[in-house]
Amino acid sequence: MPQMNDFDSVPLEFFQDYPEPGVRFIDVGCIFDHPEHWRLAIDTLHAATDGLHFDFILAMDARGFMIAGALALEHKVGFAMARKAGKLPGKAIRIDYQREYGSATIEIQPERIKGQRVLIVDDVLATGGTIEAAASLLRQLGKEVVGAAALFDIAFFKDKRALTMPVVTLREV
Ligand code: PRP
Ligand code: MG
Repeated sequence: MPQMNDFDSVPLEFFQDYPEPGVRFIDVGCIFDHPEHWRLAIDTLHAATDGLHFDFILAMDARGFMIAGALALEHKVGFAMARKAGKLPGKAIRIDYQREYGSATIEIQPERIKGQRVLIVDDVLATGGTIEAAASLLRQLGKEVVGAAALFDIAFFKDKRALTMPVVTLREV
């Protein structure tokens, strides 16, 4: 079983002033392109989210998709995609939200949410705007939001968030 501090030792890559001045952007692609780091990330997140009693995962567009898909296989649960506006066919519900840099809109297809107790999965937690928007859509559908999980937690925002759910993150950056 991997320990939390194993993932702490993985080297990370940041880009200063991307996508706009003042932002120090963590590029989660630096995990994906090292298979041993990717395996460690998923194994560690799997262990950290064990026991949360969720029966479905909501995957956040776009960098959350890879993490959510891999984690869903490990937990043997299904997952659905929350997508940026205009990308989903059929009936979808949407919400506008604020995140670290600017506003955005996400949508989900109600019929694709097959579980009742949902874990939201993303790559990075910054302001929490993205996961709170997803939680709001899920609650509109009568779903229980068990919590959220992400690989990285942007420390700058830690005491500035008003989260309505427990979050599991592996590493502060
Ligand atoms: C980034 C990141 C998280 C979100 C975190 O996604 O991947 O999803 O911002 O910020 P928040 O906690 O302030 O909401 P982004 O919307 O830039 O899109 P991407 O994943 O499609 O690159
Ligand atoms: Mg994202």
